[in-house]
Amino acid sequence: MTGPVSPGPRKRLFVKTWGCQMNVYDSARMADVLAPLGYAPAEAPEGADMVILNTCHIREKASEKLFSELGRLRGAKQAKEAEGGRMVLAVAGCVAQAEGAEITARAPYVDIVLGPQSYHRLPEMVARATRAAGHVIETDFPAEDKFDHLPEAAAPQGPIAFLTIQEGCDKFCSFCVVPYTRGAEYSRPAAAVIAEAKRLVAQGAREIALLGQNVNAYHGDGPDGATWGLARLLRELAEIPDLARLRYTTSHPRDMDDELIRAHGEIPALMPFLHLPVQSGSDRVLKAMNRGHTAADFLRIVEKLRAARPDLALSSDFIAGHPGETEQDHQDTLRLIREVGFAQAFSFKYSPRPGTPAAGAPLQVAEPEKDRRLHEIQELLREQQLDFNRSRLGLRMDILFTGPGRHPGQLAGRSPWLQPVHAEGPLSLVGQVLPCEVTATHPNSLAARILSSPGAAEATGDPPNQEKAAA
Ligand code: SAH
Ligand code: SF4
Ligand code: F3S
Repeated sequence: MTGPVSPGPRKRLFVKTWGCQMNVYDSARMADVLAPLGYAPAEAPEGADMVILNTCHIREKASEKLFSELGRLRGAKQAKEAEGGRMVLAVAGCVAQAEGAEITARAPYVDIVLGPQSYHRLPEMVARATRAAGHVIETDFPAEDKFDHLPEAAAPQGPIAFLTIQEGCDKFCSFCVVPYTRGAEYSRPAAAVIAEAKRLVAQGAREIALLGQNVNAYHGDGPDGATWGLARLLRELAEIPDLARLRYTTSHPRDMDDELIRAHGEIPALMPFLHLPVQSGSDRVLKAMNRGHTAADFLRIVEKLRAARPDLALSSDFIAGHPGETEQDHQDTLRLIREVGFAQAFSFKYSPRPGTPAAGAPLQVAEPEKDRRLHEIQELLREQQLDFNRSRLGLRMDILFTGPGRHPGQLAGRSPWLQPVHAEGPLSLVGQVLPCEVTATHPNSLAARILSSPGAAEATGDPPNQEKAAA
């Protein structure tokens, strides 16, 4: 579909993204699709020729944010028109998928509404929207695979890159909109993933995070004719020269099989940090959520993971106040958090989503009660994050430097555990993985000293690139 197109006059594209990393990835791919039409990134929506709002529907506030943003953009669009110009306004992502008709009813000045499976059709939709008045809406799940129709040429992402390998979800947790907004589970063929990973590395990526709503349910066609699981794919990707680090997110406990757990012990490039949402520590609530596992199942997985990779740290997601959740259930969640000990985690107040089974369930938990439970969960998780960061003090670890830090002469980087790190050093070190020593810890970040860098004399007698993690 996307043959060579001669770029027209330069146009400016502003994309605003909410939601998960898959939306971040999709936003970049929408920009890639529009680049051959002459669209280059703009810093602000004012004056842009096209604005895309890539939305999230996961919690109530997410879609409210869209409508307040649209209200603001209306002025910018009118201003552009007053100058004789045109601003194409597009709403993409999960709110577009779920509430396409409501968007055009509430905000008739929106030109394009497109769901996450239609991004490859964007150039054609832009052409239609610029030719005619009225809206262009695409929220079907098209028969063709969008990944086959997105351009290979992509803007470089930098030392840390994201790569979507799986989309959609068949799990239907009681509370969640994703199966409705992203559709059925789909895995990209392994060869396409490997080719994209190689391109990303050629463009400077040293770390790749594989993305999927259920990334560890990955089951893509392998180049050998067999179906590959995530473990097999990770082993293959780990062979790419110059790719230093691999991660994957988001996983479901049910798909955390023994082969994948073993991969954590056997693939050095696979970083010792895993985001594994558990949602609740109560079996009653887990059942009501349709999660398909118990609290004990989760603890067993954690135990096996830590046996395979002793320095592995965990992150998770929690929901406070799912319908039917009692005080005892909430206490069970706090107990599970204490038992596991998380390096970081996200927690949310249950938010009823239209069309999901939990939204209509009896025994909705009162708002102030949800607030209190959420606060208690967050306090405990905050303490655990502080403890985890403090436990890194004085350790030597490899840091991937990703760009300039906030202050002159400072670099920003990432630890193996995904912690933001800053260290003194020249910009020439961006893109390098270097042995460092942690000199200070903060609630959300670490400070480090570079022990040795290419060209510099070895600062210590230690072998380079050695990771000495806490036992
Ligand atoms: N696919 C992932 C996460 C999807 S959404 C998984 O299965 O774990 C990210 C997180 O948002 C979820 O893990 C859950 O904690 C939270 N979430 C989803 N729906 C929610 C809702 N209705 N209310 C509150 N939190 C929700
Ligand atoms: Fe949503 Fe559950 Fe699917 Fe995760 S597994 S995306 S929470 S339905
Ligand atoms: Fe939000 Fe859709 Fe991602 S609802 S979290 S943007 S899959």
